[in-house]
Amino acid sequence: MAQRVQGTEDLFGGYMRAWQHMQDVARDLFGAYGFDMVETPAIEQVDTFVHGIGESTDVVRKEMFRVVSGALFENLFEQGSEAGLKPKQRLAMRPEGTAGVVRAAVENNMVPQGAAPAKLWYAEAMFRGERPQKGRLRQFHQVGVEWLGAADPAADAECIIMLMEYYKRLGFDPSRLKLSINSMGDAACRPAYREKVRQFILDHADEMCEDCLERAEINPLRSFDCKNDHCREVMRDAPLAKDNLCDDCAEHYAQVKRYLDAAGVTYVEDPTLVRGLDYYTRTVFEVEAVDGGVGAIGGGGRYDGLMELEGGKPTPGIGFAVGFERIALALAAQGGSLETPQPGCVYVAGTSADEREAVFSATLALRQAGVRTEADYQGRSLKSQFKQADKLGARVCVVIGPDEVAANAVTLRDMETHEQTQVPAAELVSAVTARLAK
Ligand code: HAM
Repeated sequence: MAQRVQGTEDLFGGYMRAWQHMQDVARDLFGAYGFDMVETPAIEQVDTFVHGIGESTDVVRKEMFRVVSGALFENLFEQGSEAGLKPKQRLAMRPEGTAGVVRAAVENNMVPQGAAPAKLWYAEAMFRGERPQKGRLRQFHQVGVEWLGAADPAADAECIIMLMEYYKRLGFDPSRLKLSINSMGDAACRPAYREKVRQFILDHADEMCEDCLERAEINPLRSFDCKNDHCREVMRDAPLAKDNLCDDCAEHYAQVKRYLDAAGVTYVEDPTLVRGLDYYTRTVFEVEAVDGGVGAIGGGGRYDGLMELEGGKPTPGIGFAVGFERIALALAAQGGSLETPQPGCVYVAGTSADEREAVFSATLALRQAGVRTEADYQGRSLKSQFKQADKLGARVCVVIGPDEVAANAVTLRDMETHEQTQVPAAELVSAVTARLAK
């Protein structure tokens, strides 16, 4: 039997309800902040990610799952390279949501010049070919938001405040979350800063790993979160972004912090926080659960150059994404749970096959009235039906035997007290709903 792919999970039962719960809480909270839901395709042209996330990032270079149709696959084998493919034939599964949402915003002109910002949220599967481990999957799920068209530092602060409120509503104790923030500068000040960091790495070349030496040329800031401990140690003395911001970026960052302070949000400034995606400018942030044991449970930042990289007009943007699987693990590690109980139901039990039609009608009537209703479809004994009703968490059982059919009535059994009362069949729905409301 073929098995599920390593680093992927099946979502069902309580785990599926937990994922739905995350979406329900997001819909309520993000809706109150004016965000609408969006869904973009799971496959995009490779260029969408190369332009947005950056050619030199691990996500694009090593982790993106590339997609080819069966016919193209054979061609590729024969030719031995993808050089002959047109851009629209070079496809990948989305490794994150931002690049695709921004591509969609440009393509559908969602933020016409001078118009109100587009505020979008999504709940989607993402795909990254990382080495699977606890909290690191190859198909995982993110809830994220993208706010396109707002440059004001209040937007950065509101995004962060909304994110922290989201964790709280999911059941996290805010005092056990660590929010780190930083500013990465913009097109005016970043190039000179990058050059300083490049020079620093070259000056310490004999202490850095091969990857960092390569990074020095293509993306020196990535060395701040090199997986090699020694490189990170060396990078502690590297020039920091916060000391190299232009006046505009410094003032923007200071204002974001003033707003966060005014809202009572606790944060730590981490001047080495650079994030793994190239599109970020100015504010970046990441959240970890203390003792969560799974790394970041969410992160995001500003990306004022991304709309242009995706072929649109210059438009500022900011957003974040949180990982469902990591949140479930981190909450469990803190003694909480995302799982919501299965809603209670009503069970309709028949004493024999002769009552099957009456059971069928009663079940249908209850369901049409919006009551979650279950019945037996296997001809089990009344005792097994009661057991099944208990297992499903039914508060009321509707029992139909020959006496009930003869009297055109049903018996309602309270599953807790086992008390039974007969009511006319015509009053089934009102009697059941009255009991459920108690
Ligand atoms: P990211 O930091 O790459 O940002 O991912 C956001 C969150 O997704 C992480 O904090 C983590 O919880 C979860 N995550 C990432 N990779 C994995 C994985 N392999 N397995 C399980 N969970 C994972 C972004 O994706 C940006 N698009 C966020 C953003 C939106 N920035 C601006 N707007």
